[in-house]
Amino acid sequence: MRETLRFLLGDRLVEIDHCDPTFTVLDWLRLDRRMTGSKEGCAEGDCGACTVVVGRLDRGRLRYEATNACIRFLPTLDGCQLLTVEHLKAADGSLHPVQQAMVECHGSQCGFCTPGFVMSLLALRLNEEKPGVGRIEDALAGNLCRCTGYEPIIAAGLRMDEIAPREADRFLSEREAVAARLAALGDAETLALQGGGGSFYAPATVEALAELVAAHPQATLVAGATDVGLWVTKAMKRLDPVIYLGRIEALRAITDEGDHLRLGAMAGHIEVRTALANLSPQLDELMRRFGGEQVRNAGTIGGNIANGSPIGDLPPALIALDATLVLARRSETGMERRSIPLESFFIAYRKQDRRPGEFVEAVLVPKLADGALFHASKVSKRFDEDISAVCGAFRLTLGSDGRISDARLAYGGMAGIPKRAAAAEAALVGQHWNEAAVTAAITALPQDFTPLDDMRASAQYRLKIAGNLLRRFLIETTQAETQTRVAGLLAEAAHG
Ligand SMILES: Cc1cc2nc3c(=O)[nH]c(=O)nc-3n(C[C@H](O)[C@H](O)[C@H](O)COP(=O)(O)OP(=O)(O)OC[C@H]3O[C@@H](n4cnc5c(N)ncnc54)[C@H](O)[C@@H]3O)c2cc1C
Ligand code: FES
Ligand code: FES
Repeated sequence: MRETLRFLLGDRLVEIDHCDPTFTVLDWLRLDRRMTGSKEGCAEGDCGACTVVVGRLDRGRLRYEATNACIRFLPTLDGCQLLTVEHLKAADGSLHPVQQAMVECHGSQCGFCTPGFVMSLLALRLNEEKPGVGRIEDALAGNLCRCTGYEPIIAAGLRMDEIAPREADRFLSEREAVAARLAALGDAETLALQGGGGSFYAPATVEALAELVAAHPQATLVAGATDVGLWVTKAMKRLDPVIYLGRIEALRAITDEGDHLRLGAMAGHIEVRTALANLSPQLDELMRRFGGEQVRNAGTIGGNIANGSPIGDLPPALIALDATLVLARRSETGMERRSIPLESFFIAYRKQDRRPGEFVEAVLVPKLADGALFHASKVSKRFDEDISAVCGAFRLTLGSDGRISDARLAYGGMAGIPKRAAAAEAALVGQHWNEAAVTAAITALPQDFTPLDDMRASAQYRLKIAGNLLRRFLIETTQAETQTRVAGLLAEAAHG
């Protein structure tokens, strides 16, 4: 075991021997290091005022990710590079091209939101050349300004590559050297850190993870911490011990296995989006609307499932696709694995079919068969960075006679768990896919669900929307020319 946390702060090596397992990156920067450029707005991953850029090795390549420092635990930076707004100005005082573009386009706003906008643009510049408006909007969706506007900031995003060529950007020219330094920090040892009366473990292999979970059955597993972080900053929970999964490369793997995709539990939402987009463009849109870029950079498919939230966006889509969950644990004889249909994992509100010592290892997602019809929709109050009021995903299989031979209708936000609509499915099977069938399914929906009234939506609204999504599915599959998606309208607006 290694007992020292090691990471780069800018180009300086930081080594820490004691650290509270849930001390946030933002608190460490502001309180310990007195680096106050990164701001605390919401402390729950929503506003982006705390955005920093984290460089990490991904299969040997350095990759930069905009991250919410307010909900990221400091020890999860092991083996990474942390860049904050303080690192941008050059030694001679000249501004970084992102800062210069913000100045020239009058994008600089108040001291709370501006550092976060700048860091989101930095991450975009370091990863992509000449991003267009749509991509800039995506990258900034996790940065909120409560008072002015986004136009000058988007203009700065368009301008930043003109101000100085990317080759001249010192972060890019130092990329190989930084990658080599991070590689030298990596090892196969478990990081075991004590501090603040708690323990933090970060194993580097699945086997070491299984042993740790068996040894500490009460531990909190942490993946991207986009849920768990809020338990600390908002619910003021004390988590001890913490087992972090982010150093286990094998859990991040996404592989094409012929008739299905295998997504490791630690596959991040950015990669999950790319993989699922190959199955259906609707999954691309669903994932584009999942949190903001910072949340998609940190959050994982395993966390979205294991959290067991009734309003998580991936479970309905994966249940409609008939996904299988692979759970693993350490038994007396070695590693023990079992595979279950994802839908049976969710037993009741916040209660899942997880045995002692088990963790989510992977999700197997079948590809759509030829001729299968698929739909995924999310309805939320805001288009970007908002949790669903209702999420619906549907897969229909049509027989050679044109009638529906199999229907899988899965919803989030309609019950205490993500759940299929059995009565509505029964109303569809054997029917032709048309208005009469949809009407019958909508009529059956109240047998399947008695939704909650809450701040996101009333029960009546949820039921109405659940039916409307089925109708949208019919329109999209039978009237290709009808515009049914806000995303399509936004893309048109952005491009012309
Ligand atoms: C601003 C904001 C916006 C968000 N928007 C959305 C949204 O649009 N749609 C949506 O669905 N969610 C959204 N979320 C919620 C959250 O981002 C997702 O649920 C995310 O997928 C959680 O993944 P994570 O890796 O961060 O999980 P974590 O927070 O690390 O963990 C979540 C839970 O899963 C457990 N866990 C994690 N990995 C494993 C594993 N491999 N095995 C067993 N247990 C495990 C943890 O112990 C914990 O109970 C949002 C959150 C924030 C803060
Ligand atoms: S302070 Fe709002 S996202 Fe971190
Ligand atoms: S929050 Fe900074 S200008 Fe609006």
